[in-house]
Amino acid sequence: MALILGLESSCDETAAALVASDRTIRAHRLARQDAQHAPYGGVVPEIAARAHVEMLGPLVEAVLDEAGVTLADVDAVAATAGPGLIGGVMVGLVTGKALALAGGKPLVAVNHLEGHALSPRLTDPDLAFPYLLLLVSGGHCQLLLVEGVGRYRRIATTIDDAAGEAFDKTAKLLGLGFPGGPAVEQAARQGDPRAVPLPRPLLGSNEPHFSFAGLKSAVSRARDAGTHRAEDIAASFQQAVIDCLLDRTARALDSVAGVGVSALVVAGGVAANQGVRAALEGLAASRDLRFVAPPLWLCTDNAAMIAWAGAERFGAGLTDPLDVPARARWPLDPTGEKVRGAGVKA
Ligand SMILES: Nc1ncnc2c1ncn2[C@@H]1O[C@H](COP(=O)(O)OP(=O)(O)OP(=O)(O)O)[C@@H](O)[C@H]1O
Ligand SMILES: [Mg+2]
Repeated sequence: MALILGLESSCDETAAALVASDRTIRAHRLARQDAQHAPYGGVVPEIAARAHVEMLGPLVEAVLDEAGVTLADVDAVAATAGPGLIGGVMVGLVTGKALALAGGKPLVAVNHLEGHALSPRLTDPDLAFPYLLLLVSGGHCQLLLVEGVGRYRRIATTIDDAAGEAFDKTAKLLGLGFPGGPAVEQAARQGDPRAVPLPRPLLGSNEPHFSFAGLKSAVSRARDAGTHRAEDIAASFQQAVIDCLLDRTARALDSVAGVGVSALVVAGGVAANQGVRAALEGLAASRDLRFVAPPLWLCTDNAAMIAWAGAERFGAGLTDPLDVPARARWPLDPTGEKVRGAGVKA
């Protein structure tokens, strides 16, 4: 059994975790920066990077203490090496390199998206490759065929905004606060999803991709019209996103029909949305497929998923040299057709 120390710092959450290859989460800690970014209505990269510098060391100390181990007991150090806000990625990766060097441990440079993509396997030992993954987060909206560790085939991506980004912008437009996703979901509970007619970009299209920019503009117009309650706009927006995610995912399931996927899987921050989860669960049931979604805390950024991806890679013999670069952009499927928005952090 291997014990992996994982570090995450690609956006506005600083996190450290200790996860064993038998899926035991020995300790995980996370420091949010919401209060520091809230006045700006979004993540300010400089503020995020400085906060990671302050928080990461103490978090590493805390998880080692909580698990009752020292660096000597760790088998490998896994750190997010991209994609993300480059200042933050550099803080985490350099910290990981320093710990690996000091402890004489192998380094695993983890693609943050692989962290999300493999996170469902941390809590579900029965989830086997290949599976169809809807990766919906703050910076990405992709459908991927997950064939194995490090083996991803991108089927679709967003041609403009990510779904999480659309949630965040809608929250800002409606004055619901930051972070936006949970705020929109909460407001939507008090609203009527049929109250405001909103577009569903690319619904029914033969093209595999997603688009959310037009939906965001329509939300802005609905708000400016002044005739609708914020709760009704939020509920109508959330329903439009769900309809798009469902339609595109159904199309992707058709396109991989010959592959024999083991499950429909959702991961990333937007996977914390109950409406999104319920809709996808229904789609999977209609196709006689297993539906797998990580627990809510594992959907948004955390270091347990980075430690777990590190464990999977370490187990496959995939470690990295100390000169591995930090990358702002790092697509999971480098052969995927170039589409605006793909593999790009908003
Ligand atoms: N309950 C929710 N409903 C809808 N969206 C949500 C919910 N909870 C979180 N989100 C959204 O998820 C996003 C954050 O997810 P995550 O932390 O995975 O993204 P990220 O790390 O910023 O981006 P990426 O993983 O693409 O680099 C935000 O856009 C947030 O609004
Ligand atoms: Mg993320």
